[in-house]
Amino acid sequence: MSDLIVNGQRYALDAQVGRSLASVLREDIGLIGTKIACNEGHCGACTVLLDGVPTLSCITLVHTVGEREVTTIEGLRDHPLVESFVRADALQCGFCTPGQIVSASALVEANPHPSREEVRHAMAGNICRCGAYPKIEEAVLTWQD
Ligand code: FES
Ligand code: FES
Repeated sequence: MSDLIVNGQRYALDAQVGRSLASVLREDIGLIGTKIACNEGHCGACTVLLDGVPTLSCITLVHTVGEREVTTIEGLRDHPLVESFVRADALQCGFCTPGQIVSASALVEANPHPSREEVRHAMAGNICRCGAYPKIEEAVLTWQD
């Protein structure tokens, strides 16, 4: 038995040792906004925040999270980035979008006015198979508009 703090709420879990944070978020807690694509730490679809730091939840063992605060895309539903992604039409299939927004939220928290280069650098781990990068960059650059 271990606890997990997700989006400000504490959950008592009985997760088997060795399970990933991503699988527990989706299957045990029902927060399916966090996507699993490669499941190997390559694509960024599963990105969540751990104490504000973007983290690949598919390769994070749930028992290593401890008392760190997990923030998923559901916890960012009121973040202005959600609206700016819609405004910029920054998605096609949308599968990468939760991870993109989670990573972008950490960037703008640390640097509210990033340059295009800084956006590219900070989001390099978030792959978009649809190639929506120009619009994703636009969404992040205009998040406060
Ligand atoms: S699903 Fe976690 S990095 Fe691809
Ligand atoms: S919008 Fe389809 S993978 Fe990014």
